[in-house]
Amino acid sequence: MTAKPTVFVIFGASGDLTARKLIPALYNSFCKERLPAPFLIVGVSRTQWTHEEFRENLRAGMEKFAPDVLQDGKWEAFAQSLYYLPGDLTIPNDFDRLKNLLAELEKGPANRLYYLATAPRFFVPVVQNLGAYEMVQEQAGWRRVVIEKPFGHDLASAQALNQAIHAVFQEHQVYRIDHYLGKETAQNILFFRFANTIFEPVWNRNYVDNVQIMVDEQVDVGHRAGYYDRAGVLRDMFQNHLMQLLSLVAMEPPASFEADAVRNEKVKLLRSIRPISLADTVRAQYDGYCAAEGVAPDSTTPTFAALKLYVDNWRWQGVPFYLRSGKALARKNTEIVVEFKKPPHLMFDFVEDADFTPNILSLCVQPDEGIHLKFEAKVPDRRETRSVDMEFHYRSSFKAEPMPDAYERLLLDAIRGDASLFTRSDGIEASWRLIDPILQAWEQNRPGIPPLVNYVPGSLGPVEADLLLQRDGRIWRRVCGHEHEA
Ligand code: BG6
Repeated sequence: MTAKPTVFVIFGASGDLTARKLIPALYNSFCKERLPAPFLIVGVSRTQWTHEEFRENLRAGMEKFAPDVLQDGKWEAFAQSLYYLPGDLTIPNDFDRLKNLLAELEKGPANRLYYLATAPRFFVPVVQNLGAYEMVQEQAGWRRVVIEKPFGHDLASAQALNQAIHAVFQEHQVYRIDHYLGKETAQNILFFRFANTIFEPVWNRNYVDNVQIMVDEQVDVGHRAGYYDRAGVLRDMFQNHLMQLLSLVAMEPPASFEADAVRNEKVKLLRSIRPISLADTVRAQYDGYCAAEGVAPDSTTPTFAALKLYVDNWRWQGVPFYLRSGKALARKNTEIVVEFKKPPHLMFDFVEDADFTPNILSLCVQPDEGIHLKFEAKVPDRRETRSVDMEFHYRSSFKAEPMPDAYERLLLDAIRGDASLFTRSDGIEASWRLIDPILQAWEQNRPGIPPLVNYVPGSLGPVEADLLLQRDGRIWRRVCGHEHEA
């Protein structure tokens, strides 16, 4: 008896995400023999392609976006599992056609994953049509839906979207994707904290002075202005990626690595965050942003933000968390820094308290993935201390194991039914609850909000972001990529 087929249905199959991320990820998993067999991929979108044209377009996409992995001979085998249906996601009858095509390909009971790689305005119609055509019942096999970002535009729309999804799917069927959670280095935060004994005892208010989460991007808004100008950096990066990184760094240890145990702790953490004071926020836009194609000439959309927040629980009471992210900055750097407190008493008479660098632990998420621990050492033959760096780099320690793309891990997890790295409905809403008041205040120009300032593209960002820390007697501690500096 052959196994039940697994069918991966992609809505929005002619789009960029499918060619750039989904197909390379599935193809890699196919080459590594990690996909269940039989495995079929069915693309749906408006473009009038045949099955063969779909395959040819995806092959061209592989040549463009993932040429290194395109192994001779394997593509042909993979391409045999690709099928296509031209269809309009808002026309119910097209779901009838999809249902028929699926029945024809599956030839019996099958598992199905529906991937919404579409513009957000199609999320609800697709989900409703899947419900209306009875394509979500699990008697013949599991049915799952993966929802891409952005998940809502604010708290109210995220809640409405959750409601619309829950009217059709049960929560265990829903996988809200945040690709940051699929990054190896993000996953490693939990291993670093909870598979070692020496870090967790100092991971709290008694030893930690502050935590910094920096997600600097070098790219500017590029060709995505149409989306970005309505979103801005808080929606694009903070509500999802930065809040997820924050919860991994600050959450309590779950009792098991099971999806709900992990997600319960993450939600608990997000709910412990004190409402963010507007005075502790910085918003900025890079010079020249308004001249980009697709951006309103008088746009006040921030392309950079920084903020300070506090977690009101026993572990973190009084420890500031500083978060920043922006586009068009000097270089790409995603880094989480835990700055420890200075020793309670410095007995070395040649060490100036003001110059003394505390211990710093830096988790480099990208691009030079690794972990650094900076500590003080006495300089030989001198009455001086200097910071030295204990470094771990993935590229040298795991030479034989290349870093997979985040999508590869996440798609496999969704296929296997492991939702630990996907956001639950309460998690999404908890995160919006924190960001929404800032967005509203900024967008309505409420009194007391920080002015929108400018920064030079290619710089380290606005000086106001530095002042946010300076007024607390702190500085941004950039370690990744600076390790060999004196
Ligand atoms: C996306 C944002 O979610 O993440 C983009 O929409 C951003 O604006 C991207 O550039 C960053 O992802 P990564 O993996 O390059 O850090």
